[in-house]
Amino acid sequence: MLKQLLLAASAIVVVVVVSVTSTAQVTKGKTRLATTSQIMRGFVRPNHTNLHQGTEKLPTNKKEWQALATNAALLNEASYLLMDDDRCPDDDWANAAMTLRRGSAAAVRSIKVKDTKSMAAAFRMITHSCAACHDMHK
Ligand code: HEC
Repeated sequence: MLKQLLLAASAIVVVVVVSVTSTAQVTKGKTRLATTSQIMRGFVRPNHTNLHQGTEKLPTNKKEWQALATNAALLNEASYLLMDDDRCPDDDWANAAMTLRRGSAAAVRSIKVKDTKSMAAAFRMITHSCAACHDMHK
């Protein structure tokens, strides 16, 4: 009896795991409107591009430093967005999102103290996250 119950329970687990995997969305979340492509074009790429420019040619005034910090903070926010709404299909995606989160957090910290060497390293880590996810899912 116990054995049958356990078998039934594990069958249910298998069904749940399979259905969670197959309903995970890559091109769009489950309920929200924005497609992954729109999030990439309108949110992720612009902030990545601006962060790149500000890492190469450093800000010259307070306003520009603030703008750069905003770019890094929004990329950090994107790392959460990419995990929301059942968008994440697997570990490759989750790991890339986590790399984006860590890299952008490092960028926020290094911009705050204007540590240009750490800024460059953080930017490389962020860019690595783009490639890691795109290699598997784009
Ligand atoms: C966790 C996964 C993931 C991460 C991290 C990620 N992307 Fe994407 N990206 C995608 C997927 C999936 C697509 C394809 C979406 C589609 O075609 O529906 C995409 C597409 C794009 C596109 C093309 C959009 C279009 O339709 O024209 C650009 C540009 C882009 N990503 C930029 C970036 C940049 C820059 C980064 C890093 C800062 C990044 N992405 C990080 C998943 C990711």
